[in-house]
Amino acid sequence: MSQSWMIASGKGGVGKSTVTAALGISLAQRSIQCCCVDTDIGLRNLDMLMGMQNSVVYDLMDVAQKNCKLKLATLAHPTYMQLSLLPAAQLGSVTDISTDDMKRIVRKLKKHAAYVLLDAPAGVERGLQNLLPASDQAIIVTTPDDVAIRDAERLINLMDQKKAPRPMLIVNRVIPEMVTRGDMYSPQIVANTLDIPLLGYIPDDRTVIASLNNHSTFMDVKCPAHDAIDRIAQRFLGEFIPMSTFAKKRFFFSRKTY
Ligand SMILES: Nc1ncnc2c1ncn2[C@@H]1O[C@H](COP(=O)(O)OP(=O)(O)OP(=O)(O)O)[C@@H](O)[C@H]1O
Ligand SMILES: [Mg+2]
Repeated sequence: MSQSWMIASGKGGVGKSTVTAALGISLAQRSIQCCCVDTDIGLRNLDMLMGMQNSVVYDLMDVAQKNCKLKLATLAHPTYMQLSLLPAAQLGSVTDISTDDMKRIVRKLKKHAAYVLLDAPAGVERGLQNLLPASDQAIIVTTPDDVAIRDAERLINLMDQKKAPRPMLIVNRVIPEMVTRGDMYSPQIVANTLDIPLLGYIPDDRTVIASLNNHSTFMDVKCPAHDAIDRIAQRFLGEFIPMSTFAKKRFFFSRKTY
């Protein structure tokens, strides 16, 4: 049974698109058919994160406005056969697509992909609310700081009001040494604060930025963020993968498992 997942955040720039692209790649590397949809209309960037910026011709808006068939706008990834991308339009806003159109498009995508990952725009405005009815479940991405956590809380409250299923949490850009020193919230503390289950955390990793600047993906190299995404993908698929505990410095034998 196919599933659609919205990847959302309250605050912008916390790593939704990075997570969507990397999780999609990790699932495809496991031979699972996955379609990533960039719903951040006007601010499209998922195509770049997936290394597909030169292939985009049609987009989500074209499909919604029936300018082209869904099949024509959905691009197969050049490396991972199981992965595809439905890009966002460069112009317009997510509010230009109706809830019904979004539901119709996602329903069609689910016929071909086991997982449809919807990269949401930041915030709690109407555009995001249009996405909720098209999503079976949601992942909230946050960084471990008060501002992002408070914005995530607002989003979760809004989802509660809309009777959406309780989302799962990914804490991004964690710096383990700072957590150990007590200068950064641990992922588990963030999950407890937001009162939602923790799917995993991703360390702050320079390879993520370096790969982007080299027009590649960190999922093609061995690095801590890649390991973390793989563990998240395994938990996403229902496997039991233990979560790292952040021991105080004197217990530095504890194994990092992200
Ligand atoms: N784990 C990480 N380590 C280092 N850099 C990261 C990490 N995750 C994301 N970044 C960087 O943070 C920036 C923002 O990431 P991204 O575009 O995925 O955020 P977003 O939530 O989708 O933003 P927006 O709200 O604008 O859509 C990018 O430059 C990305 O490379
Ligand atoms: Mg984004």
